[in-house]
Amino acid sequence: MTDSFLLAHLSDPHLGPMPRPRGLELVGKRAIGYINWQRKRYAIHRREVLAQIVADIHAQRPDHIAVTGDLVNIALPAEFIEAAAWLKTVGPPHDVSLVPGNHDAYDISTRHHFANAWADYLHGDGASTGAATFPYVRRRGPLALIGVSTATPTAPFVATGQLGRAQRNALESILPQLAQENLCRVLLIHHPLHVAPGRWTARLRDADDLLSILKQHGVEMVLHGHDHRHAIVWFDGPSGKIPAIGVPSASAASGGHHHPAAYNLFSIARTNDGWRIEQTVRGFVNESSPDAITDIRAEVLIAP
Ligand SMILES: [Fe+2]
Repeated sequence: MTDSFLLAHLSDPHLGPMPRPRGLELVGKRAIGYINWQRKRYAIHRREVLAQIVADIHAQRPDHIAVTGDLVNIALPAEFIEAAAWLKTVGPPHDVSLVPGNHDAYDISTRHHFANAWADYLHGDGASTGAATFPYVRRRGPLALIGVSTATPTAPFVATGQLGRAQRNALESILPQLAQENLCRVLLIHHPLHVAPGRWTARLRDADDLLSILKQHGVEMVLHGHDHRHAIVWFDGPSGKIPAIGVPSASAASGGHHHPAAYNLFSIARTNDGWRIEQTVRGFVNESSPDAITDIRAEVLIAP
């Protein structure tokens, strides 16, 4: 076995505090989202919690950090600037790979902002200028990080996502190429591929199409956010099951009904006949010492 590569995964920071919206910025879906933030979300998503999670990730000295979207809340122009500053504190663009979430394309007027404001973190290898395009591929150590965008503006009270035909077609040609290169393919996507109870209006609309692509061409692992919950769901691949792993929001305070803030660490090593992927979940737990980050769970996900 060769040395292992350490990949950290966090999601859905929903950065606060909310900048003061200007009058005309607060119409339609944004007005509802703003009221929602002021009434309850500001108390859930805490910057000091997020800062502890990021510091704990840095203490683990990962080789790379994946961030699966929802950096902002109602996609005000000022939120993108603040989020760009926060991304710099996570790490340099070479070491941090980002995909956008539905909140990053919350409003039709700013739905393309993320692709410019955070472009350095969304670019594939060899494409370092201009707005980001998807899917992107970044080769890091034994990994191929494949980033897709499911971020599309939706009607109020709807948080669905969609890859669309162009991204799906591109995946169909990229995935077999990367398999031939014998890289560990990690798909980064904001929306989960399964529909959790009560999440029909927040589902990935073309999940079935993506699942049939994965069944034919495979990836080694899928990392997602969006549901703000710990999740592992296994899907069919061409030669065995593919784990799809979700994490809670990295800023979620302890003590509510939601899962408190956590992140995942994956130790990934090439073996003689495949991959060994070991997962460690670190974060806060509600029941005991809610102010300290601990190991929540560790297990071998994939071993040949
Ligand atoms: Fe989301």
